[in-house]
This record gives sequence, C-alpha cells and structure tokens, in this order.
Amino acid sequence: MNIALLGYGNMGKEIERLAAEKNIVVKKIFTIENNLRAMAINKETLKDVDVCIDFSVPTAVVENIKAVSSFGKNIVVGTTGWYDKMKDVEKIVEKNKIGFLYSPNFSLGMNIFFQILYSTSHIFDKFDCYDPAIHETHHRNKVDSPSGTALTLGQIVLSQIRRKNKMYQETAHKQLKSDELHISSTRVGNVVGQHHVLFDSEADSIELIHTAKNRAGFAMGALIAAQFLKGKKGIYTMKDVITSF
Ligand SMILES: NC(=O)c1ccc[n+]([C@@H]2O[C@H](COP(=O)([O-])OP(=O)(O)OC[C@H]3O[C@@H](n4cnc5c(N)ncnc54)[C@H](OP(=O)(O)O)[C@@H]3O)[C@@H](O)[C@H]2O)c1
Repeated sequence: MNIALLGYGNMGKEIERLAAEKNIVVKKIFTIENNLRAMAINKETLKDVDVCIDFSVPTAVVENIKAVSSFGKNIVVGTTGWYDKMKDVEKIVEKNKIGFLYSPNFSLGMNIFFQILYSTSHIFDKFDCYDPAIHETHHRNKVDSPSGTALTLGQIVLSQIRRKNKMYQETAHKQLKSDELHISSTRVGNVVGQHHVLFDSEADSIELIHTAKNRAGFAMGALIAAQFLKGKKGIYTMKDVITSF
C-alpha cells in the first residue's frame, strides 16, 4: 500500500525509515516548506496514495485533515495538541465520508498501559485514602503541554474514580480541590516520553510508569494503523486497531 507523510520531523523520518518493513511505500512527503497552510495537498499530489499519516504541528494539523478529506483520502493523525477542535474534525470526517484514526500515543506498550490504568483506577475508586496524580516528561522541543497521552490517562482516571471530576493542568499555586486531578509536565533534553501515574496515601504510594525508549514503537504503531484504515470509513482509535488482532 501507498502512504503520504504530513510532517517530516522526528516522527515523519522514523515512519519513512520503517515503512519498507511493512511493505508500505512512501509516495509523497509534505513538509512545512512545501505545504504551508496545506496548500500542496491536491488531487495530483495525493494520486495513488491510500492513506495519509500526519505527524506535524498543532497549528497545521486541522488544515491538513480538512484538505486531505476534501480529496476523499483516509488519514491517520499522531499530532497532538488539537483535541479542543475534535467536534470540527468529526464534522469534516463525516461530511467527506473518509476513514480517520487518531491516537495520542501509537505505541503498543502505552495502549496496554491504558488498559492497565482502567482496571487499576477501578480498584482505587473503592479506597479513598489514595489520591491520584499524573506527571509527564518530554524533550524540550515538544510544543504542546500536557501531552495528549497525559490527557488520555487523565480521562481514564476521571472515568473510573468517582471522587475525581476534573483535571487541573496548571502549576498549582493554590490548594487543589478534592475532586481535582493534578496533571503536570516537565520539558528537558531529549526524553522521548515518560508518563507516571501516582496513587498516594498516608501509608504508601504506588506508581505506574511507562517509558518510551525510542520513536520506533510509535512509528510502527502508526504504520499498522494505516494498514488497518485502508478502505475503511468512520472514526477509529488505536483501541480498534489492537482489538482487531
Ligand atoms: N501519537 C503519538 O504516538 C506521537 C508520538 C510522537 C509524537 N507525537 C506528536 O506528533 C507531532 C510531531 O512530532 P515530532 O516529534 O515528529 O515533531 P517535529 O520533529 O517538530 O516534526 C513536526 C514537523 O512538521 C512540520 N510541519 C509544520 N507545519 C507543517 C505543514 N503544514 N505540513 C507539513 N509539515 C508541517 C514541522 O516543520 P517546522 O519544524 O519547520 O515547523 C516539523 O518538521 C507532535 O504533535 C507530537 O506531540 C505523537
């Protein structure tokens, strides 16, 4: 199958490097230089492309989705930091009847971690002596904060622990309310991505940690997602990909 890459930074390059292993051909690469405001996306440049994969920047991704879907092509989105525009994107996808798959984290390990957190949080719901918090660390060039993955982890905790109702994403220059879940971030050096979920009590603390060692896991997950999405219509996430095996 053939793909087009939208964004040729760390992730775009890693996907290009690994594509051949999955018998996937990279037909076209859109970069900031050749694709400002999605102007390079048209019928001709998407010719023979089965699925597009976007790992660009939050300020470009929605324009890219709009342009790609207007030419009836399916798209996998790894870019984070745009989820406040989800309703608009859903409308674009439905109007153009394309296949759309997004995930804040394409790594197999993190998707297993999501499932572990569901069941763990469900247990902690019963023991209110434990207070949860989430912390993530990424390389200093990451533009959005907190990470999309940290927000997904936060949603999981909120969905399972009834005493927590909202996320608090700022530096806490105040006492947190008992129903607030603190999500904090550090930006430093070259860290690929680390997510901690902490459950703290007077007696002890329990920590779940996921550490990404390199970008290959994300890139492989995005390629597998593109294979899954070929020929499909509708909105999907990595959960659909993983449960399809
Ligand atoms: N879901 C996941 O599993 C996962 C994993 C890793 C990263 N991510 C996310 O994926 C995104 C990309 O990560 P990255 O590490 O590859 O970042 P990166 O190295 O900064 O690469 C992003 C690239 O997109 C380019 N770009 C900007 N506007 C564009 C446009 N209109 N069309 C095409 N390309 C454009 C940027 O160019 P300039 O630098 O010149 O602006 C940059 O080269 C980020 O949002 C990151 O948080 C997600």
